[in-house]
Amino acid sequence: MKMGKYNIKTDDLVYEPAEDTFLLAENLQINPEDSVLEIGTGSGLVAIYAREKSDKITVSDININALEIAEENFKNNGINDIEIKFGNLYEPFENRKFDVILFNTPYLPTEKEDIIDTDLNYAFDGGVDGRKVIDPFLYGLKNHLNKHGKVQMIQSSLSNIEKTFEILESEGFICEITKKEHFFFEDVVLITATLI
Ligand SMILES: C[S@@+](CC[C@H](N)C(=O)[O-])C[C@H]1O[C@@H](n2cnc3c(N)ncnc32)[C@H](O)[C@@H]1O
Repeated sequence: MKMGKYNIKTDDLVYEPAEDTFLLAENLQINPEDSVLEIGTGSGLVAIYAREKSDKITVSDININALEIAEENFKNNGINDIEIKFGNLYEPFENRKFDVILFNTPYLPTEKEDIIDTDLNYAFDGGVDGRKVIDPFLYGLKNHLNKHGKVQMIQSSLSNIEKTFEILESEGFICEITKKEHFFFEDVVLITATLI
């Protein structure tokens, strides 16, 4: 399927690029020399946009099906140098640090009855308050960002944007809402934060 400029394949087990994907992909703040980690790459489309700006791109996902599809999508779009890692958040990265970290998070508040029993669940399930993945992601950032490093993340007004700002500021970041889109029952925002 054509997605923007690229041919992207997905399947039932992988998040199909949506408005939130493009909110991140089309507003990347990456310099040519930056090393970039995209956590939760899904189909790989954000990483493909990031590869236009830097040749040091690493991606990860907790959903192995996503990584297989992302690898195929990279190859089908002529990209052979993106590093691919499997695992939960920072687990695959031990002491490694990056200049930029990207994450379109699973931000939806999710009750038990809303859980689906395939790996696609990882794409949406933010736990009851929507912050099950966001909070450990935020608290791990400092250990994996270089000096003056930057994070760009997507979340929803349903999962407490103020709390994200509080955590980021307490961890030493300055942050802003770079873009906001309104949907029926929520705002989806791109937050950009820089370590000072
Ligand atoms: C909303 S989808 C975004 C996918 C893709 N980046 C995009 O924007 O289209 C969230 C992605 O994060 C992955 N994910 C969820 N929790 C994760 C975790 N703890 N560690 C790594 N990846 C995770 C999911 O499997 C899913 O691919």
